Amino acid sequence: MAINFDYKQFSDDNNYMQMCAEVMAVRARGDIPMACIRTYGCQQNVADSEKIKGMLEQMGFGFTENAEDADFILFNTCAVREHAEDRVFGNVGALKNIKRRHPSVVIGLCGCMMEQKHVTDRLYKSFPFVNLVFGTHSLHKFPELFYNAVTFGGRVYETGIDDKTVYEGIPTRRDGTFKGWLPIMYGCNNFCTYCIVPYTRGRERSRKFEDVVNEARQMIESGYKEITLLGQNVNSYGKNLEDKHTFAELLQEIDKIDGDYILRFMTSHPKDCSKELIDVIAQSRHVSCHLHLPFQSGSNRVLKAMNRSYTREKYLEIIDYAKKNIPNLSLTSDVIVGFPGETYEEFSETVSLVKEVGFTSLFTFIYSPRNGTPAAKMEDPYTHKEKSQWFSELLKVQEEIAAQRCAAMVGTTVRVLVEGKTDKEGVLTSRTSGNIIVDFPGDESLVGNFVNVKITKARNWILNGELEDKE
Ligand code: SAH
Ligand code: SF4
Ligand code: F3S
Repeated sequence: MAINFDYKQFSDDNNYMQMCAEVMAVRARGDIPMACIRTYGCQQNVADSEKIKGMLEQMGFGFTENAEDADFILFNTCAVREHAEDRVFGNVGALKNIKRRHPSVVIGLCGCMMEQKHVTDRLYKSFPFVNLVFGTHSLHKFPELFYNAVTFGGRVYETGIDDKTVYEGIPTRRDGTFKGWLPIMYGCNNFCTYCIVPYTRGRERSRKFEDVVNEARQMIESGYKEITLLGQNVNSYGKNLEDKHTFAELLQEIDKIDGDYILRFMTSHPKDCSKELIDVIAQSRHVSCHLHLPFQSGSNRVLKAMNRSYTREKYLEIIDYAKKNIPNLSLTSDVIVGFPGETYEEFSETVSLVKEVGFTSLFTFIYSPRNGTPAAKMEDPYTHKEKSQWFSELLKVQEEIAAQRCAAMVGTTVRVLVEGKTDKEGVLTSRTSGNIIVDFPGDESLVGNFVNVKITKARNWILNGELEDKE
């Protein structure tokens, strides 16, 4: 059944952005107020930071990478693994000295960590110099919250889940001019037993079909050459919409827009990855020949305990269908090593799946217990040291596969989007449709363009090449 979400247009009726601009014009240490925004975690957070920057821009802010120069420092945080959280706490602690040197600086924290009570409690108690804290559901209120933080002088905390509303029209300042993120949905309903995301991002809600298509069109018209559609589980796009649409239909509709661009998407969940979707990718003009399809574990017992709702066999069946239908398909995936109770034999099934599929690259994580998730209460008899050994074993297997796959590309010509310069003078970096990095000598003016490159050498998972022609 379709759940009715509220679709609201962002508005700043109370003129908070204008009022912030006035306050900050006086308060700024330099000519204009400067903001330093640090983003942790996934692309969803990157896309959220782009909205915050969009609002800050309208509030008269410029941007700096250097926290020392900033009038506003904001960390957009991630809660997915303990390591991510520890880094944030460490970095917030270090801001104390900046606050001492520049007492007028406003220090803010937002993002997924802020939707966990034990985190905000700890912040409130131990980090009194943090002025502003808001969660993933309060983005649309940012101008008001910021205004309160600067004018009332106290601490502003705004957290809690409101997953009934989708806000459209929040100003966005994209980080890139030719590569851009496009969120198509928010939240997640899957409740994989290890994962904190459904708790920090709330229930899954899709943006309206026309809103997404229109935004894609605007991006293409303004020169974007690569668009990545974002969601925690893009394959279930549209389930909550009144006029039902599938993700395959969305891809197909965007693909109809004329222009020279590449269309990517992430993340796909194997349980909802349909043959219809693979057919659409195969027949499309713009969709990349890359599928990021996290399998997490090769063992059916572990997959069940993770609540992933597919089996190893089902996963391999999709992969097989995709390989047969999408030419030059490049596959990537996420894997968790050391889920509670996973035995070495079960881990070995992950290794055998990795060998069977032949991924271009893998994002491999050691299981990290997350407060409040079912897996955190499961018995976890293996030590971190043992899991680290398994992790290294898997990395080694994958490195060999990646090296072989890259070596097989030597001598071929690939079409790449040039992304920027490398550290090496006169060498550019680019990416294939299959998401493989190719470095080649070339002029900086090629950045942001598609070119053909002949592969001359493979260096593990990075390729070297020579420019064949400028298109
Ligand atoms: N929605 C996406 C991924 C979101 S999180 C999906 O379902 O594929 C990105 C990755 O982090 C996950 O795919 C998983 O491999 C990893 N991850 C999530 N929670 C984790 C945890 N508690 N410990 C270790 N890795 C985790
Ligand atoms: Fe987390 Fe699973 Fe949702 Fe991905 S699909 S965000 S791993 S709960
Ligand atoms: Fe992290 Fe939140 Fe993304 S927990 S991975 S930033 S959705």
